Amino acid sequence: MKILLLGKNGQVGWELQRSLAVLGDVVALDFDTPGPWQADFTRPQALGPMLRQIAPQVVVNAAAHTAVDRAESEPELVHTINAEAPGVLAREAAALGATLVHYSTDYVFDGSGDRPRAEDAPTGPLSVYGRTKLAGEEAIRASGCRHLILRTSWVYAARGGNFAKTMLRLAAERDALTVIDDQVGAPTGADLLADVTAHALRALQQRPDLGGTYHCVAAGETTWFGYARHVVEWGRGHGHPVKVAPDAIRPVPTSAYPTPARRPLNSRLDTTKLRAAFGLHLPHWRVGVERMLAEVLAGHDGA
Ligand SMILES: NC(=O)c1ccc[n+]([C@@H]2O[C@H](COP(=O)([O-])OP(=O)(O)OC[C@H]3O[C@@H](n4cnc5c(N)ncnc54)[C@H](OP(=O)(O)O)[C@@H]3O)[C@@H](O)[C@H]2O)c1
Repeated sequence: MKILLLGKNGQVGWELQRSLAVLGDVVALDFDTPGPWQADFTRPQALGPMLRQIAPQVVVNAAAHTAVDRAESEPELVHTINAEAPGVLAREAAALGATLVHYSTDYVFDGSGDRPRAEDAPTGPLSVYGRTKLAGEEAIRASGCRHLILRTSWVYAARGGNFAKTMLRLAAERDALTVIDDQVGAPTGADLLADVTAHALRALQQRPDLGGTYHCVAAGETTWFGYARHVVEWGRGHGHPVKVAPDAIRPVPTSAYPTPARRPLNSRLDTTKLRAAFGLHLPHWRVGVERMLAEVLAGHDGA
């Protein structure tokens, strides 16, 4: 099987390079990959001829404009990358008879209420990022291609910067920290997403009818405050220099940190459909976060 992986150097793309390797030959591209092919999503029209030349059976798209606040000031560019380009990929995949895997986000919802949302819950994005990600999903569903859309939330990876690393750094520097405690979700590892993707692709080979839109997040839920406190206390217990006292990490509402993009308060996603369709167990968010922290503290994160 030939698999085309786009966005290979992002958090999820990097882990997909590993997890997809056992399924077939992976052609992994970024927008500035040396060689004959680049996958620059600011030029969607160039993606079609490239796909036809490579002629993969599976296209996995991990590329996206993910800078949620910056997106508010460059909506056309974000729409091109997050909506138009996936639409081109989907129509080309349909013509080739290929399967398209794509990632989306809890930001397609308005974040009201306090219940986990199922895949068919009404959407209502609050930001440019959320609106363009929803438009990308809709273009894929409208194309008629066989697809798998995994909506996820609060993605982290050991490689590169992330919220947990920032908290560890600040906890070593400061006497007190304030962290938002009214947004609820589940930190989800890029490695978990990549492993679920490989497993689901394998299942899709036997059961093409399993294609569709799914929610894929780690189990359990927390707030950014709960996440930060867990990270700092884990660090304290594992030899990381921590200056901040446990009771000096304080919860604050989202309104204390105004940002250009509005974020959903309720990012809970119901994963029942994914677990049932593919026979999967999704581990608690703390399992993946602690594994990532162990890598960071051991200096294996490349930082
Ligand atoms: N991160 C989250 O918390 C989160 C939450 C929910 C859903 N998701 C979704 O999960 C997927 C993977 O996200 P991630 O966390 O792995 O994001 P990421 O680390 O930001 O990776 C995105 C990749 O896309 C690349 N890219 C950006 N603009 C591009 C362009 N014009 N052409 C080609 N490639 C371009 C980026 O390159 P550069 O880094 O060089 O710009 C990066 O390698 C995305 O669909 C995202 O919307 C993410």
